[in-house]
Amino acid sequence: MNDYDSQRIKNAIGIPQTNDPGKADIVIINTCAIREKADQKALSSLGKFKHLKKSNPNLIVGMTGCVAQLYGDKLLSKASHLDFVLGPRAIPKLAEIINDVEIERTRIVETSYDIEEPFEILPYHENEKVTSFLSIQQGCNKNCTYCIVPTVRGKEINRPLNDIMSEARYLVQKGVKEITLIGQTVNSWKNDGLKFADLLNIVGELESLERIRFTTSYPRDFTKKLINTMKTNPKVCSHIHLPVQSGSNEVLSKMKRTYTVEWYMEVVTRLKEEIADMAISSDIIVGFPGETRQDFEQTLKLVEEVEFDTCFSFKYSPRPGTPAASMTDFIDSETAGRRLSILHELQRKITCKKNEDRIDRIEQVLVEGKSKNDPSHLMGRTSQNRIVNFSSSDNLCGKLVNVKINNGFQNSLLGSIL
Ligand code: 5AD
Repeated sequence: MNDYDSQRIKNAIGIPQTNDPGKADIVIINTCAIREKADQKALSSLGKFKHLKKSNPNLIVGMTGCVAQLYGDKLLSKASHLDFVLGPRAIPKLAEIINDVEIERTRIVETSYDIEEPFEILPYHENEKVTSFLSIQQGCNKNCTYCIVPTVRGKEINRPLNDIMSEARYLVQKGVKEITLIGQTVNSWKNDGLKFADLLNIVGELESLERIRFTTSYPRDFTKKLINTMKTNPKVCSHIHLPVQSGSNEVLSKMKRTYTVEWYMEVVTRLKEEIADMAISSDIIVGFPGETRQDFEQTLKLVEEVEFDTCFSFKYSPRPGTPAASMTDFIDSETAGRRLSILHELQRKITCKKNEDRIDRIEQVLVEGKSKNDPSHLMGRTSQNRIVNFSSSDNLCGKLVNVKINNGFQNSLLGSIL
């Protein structure tokens, strides 16, 4: 979501980008507040630009994103070199704000949720990109007790179908072959009597679009209709990111996740039964207030049972103003850290084994471009979202090719094109 917003910011200002802050007229720090670490990173990066303003007093420095929303005008008093603070909802106002700062030399805070056209500015789109994000939703209506998102991104707004489709058509016409629909709880999207499963089918009608992905899904809103659409629509990839957060019903209830482990397992079982070669990834928080050893062991049990293809796990981080931050039964950092390492190690083994299991198989890969580590190799992804590197001197960007897998590592597969 932040990546998408950064591209919108780029389009909103419409001036060329430089990688050298010393040459910039405007510096914008787009920020994330999901955990304390990201929040601190944002605040410390703000400090880095102080000296630039001294040597160039006309420089405009702004902070955008969730940290901007969270701290608002406190940021202005904290950093005298900061010219404006703008929340994620207010990106359509960015150009106007920069203009006001430039002309009037005032300092501005814009953290309103009440923006007339919240989706108005489209992201900057690089030519020859094979894949693209497309936001279909802003904000979140779930009230998970640990989560800062509803505070900083506001209530859920579902983007109207016509608006989504005009961006989708633009992307396809630019050569995009794979669109990832994004939203905080993307599968909760609805508009004008249509549900998320309908949207997948409508987007799937775009002729030269090969693949559709979506993230992040909320388990409780994962309907039978959606599973059926994933099964029947060949463009919808066989991968889903479905954060479970914990394997303990007590913890899930304290998190206000509104589902039980049994419910989650039923969705996972149905997905695996209905869709051949289904890949599932997840997010887990360890050390949530009150998490006992038994709770944590139940999380390990769930991870072993589901065998996620990948799983991102995090130490619980208290976020200002969230209900969990005022719970009193915090887990000490050392215990949480130990649990995190155990979970990481378990998942690492599962991921490696799953990737090794792909050896000798033939995978259909959508080629995205040159491999990061070796320019003589191309890189693409399977429908299950596994990265595949293979040697080729041809320009196969945007093509679907068959690759025989020769080796499986933790983060990628290595193969040869057939
Ligand atoms: N502490 C730790 N992890 C968090 N996440 C969200 N809020 C917190 C928090 N306060 C994790 C969840 C979510 C992912 C994006 O970040 O696992 O799915």
